[in-house]
Amino acid sequence: MIDVLVTGGAGFIGSNFVRYALRAHPDWQVTTLDKLTYCGRLENLQEVMDDPRHRFVKGDIGDEAVSAPLVKASEIVVHFAAETHVDRSLQSAGEFIHTDVFGTFVLLEAARQAPNLRRFVQISTDEVYGSVPTGASKETDELRPRNPYSASKAGADRLAYSYWATYHVPVVITRASNNYGPNQFPEKVIPLFITNALEDRGLPLYGDGLNVRDWLHVEDHCRGVDLLLDKGEAGEVYNIGGGNEVPNVELTRRILELTDKPASLITPVPDRVGHDRRYALDTSKLKTLGWKPQVAFADGLRATVNWYRDNRSWWDPIKHQDPAFQSYYKAQYETRRGA
Ligand code: NAD
Ligand code: TYD
Repeated sequence: MIDVLVTGGAGFIGSNFVRYALRAHPDWQVTTLDKLTYCGRLENLQEVMDDPRHRFVKGDIGDEAVSAPLVKASEIVVHFAAETHVDRSLQSAGEFIHTDVFGTFVLLEAARQAPNLRRFVQISTDEVYGSVPTGASKETDELRPRNPYSASKAGADRLAYSYWATYHVPVVITRASNNYGPNQFPEKVIPLFITNALEDRGLPLYGDGLNVRDWLHVEDHCRGVDLLLDKGEAGEVYNIGGGNEVPNVELTRRILELTDKPASLITPVPDRVGHDRRYALDTSKLKTLGWKPQVAFADGLRATVNWYRDNRSWWDPIKHQDPAFQSYYKAQYETRRGA
């Protein structure tokens, strides 16, 4: 059996990856290490909790006593754990530095001493390139992160690279675009807008609504990461993008169509400070290895709307019974009309 450690496996992408990995690799023994922060949820792993090839460990990646032995026992580490929401990083950035930078450092230090480690995947993000008004970011482009989230991810991205360059830790770095799909915490734009629409609440669209994001279905992201475990080259960076560049206002309209709700729910609100205008990725490097996105955006978005419609019991308690969510929502939107 191959010992695989997935950090942040109770979150959105991590839990999709754990489920995908157990399906795709019968010879994997997967350990999920997750602190279960506000967005890490054991429900996301319900399907695999009784699987003898999976075990869950609750812990902080920055706590060496917990995380280092797990890294040292692994052949493969896929490191998703992070604070991930730009808006939260604008309210308070300390946890982003703690987890995204310091936590990554603790894992990399352990990786130096892991006897059987053959791959450490640092899950980075397209946001490290900063806003790209035209064209598409290549892996060799300069990093120009412009908010505390993307800056902390850029720090981790380069720190991981440095452990390859200096100590030959077999690091591969992925920079994916905005993911969507099941189990995404309902404060990110797609699940927030879908669930607000289902509840006939306003969809708080920032600024002029013309900021552009490239949408990648989470399953396509999982497939890309999986491919890189074998075909990726240590020390290299790989962009993973869906090729679906959509202005936010267009995304909002599509969500309203799919939920059969009126355009009057669109609620323009004051913009996010320092809001990156556009992200776009050149994914030719990964494509030469044989990857391409398989989920068309129209199909993936419809399936995602259906998932939230069918899984109200997953998100309703978060939105309506979790005081932490409610205080976040209030702090985030109370000064913004109508949301
Ligand atoms: P998420 O916020 O849904 O999940 C993050 C998970 O990490 C949670 O389960 C949380 O409990 C866990 N975690 C946080 N701090 C921890 C700590 N100190 N120790 C252990 N676990 C901790 O995030 P996501 O959207 O699934 O993103 C996963 C990774 O992918 C992140 O590294 C993120 O930067 C990257 N990424 C995300 C996107 C996206 O669109 N969501 C795009 C590109 C890259
Ligand atoms: P988000 O899901 O926070 O991802 P990121 O900022 O990391 O790309 O936001 C995606 C886009 O949606 C971004 O341009 C900001 C915008 N947005 C809104 O217009 N309203 C909202 O309530 C949220 C959360 C985001």
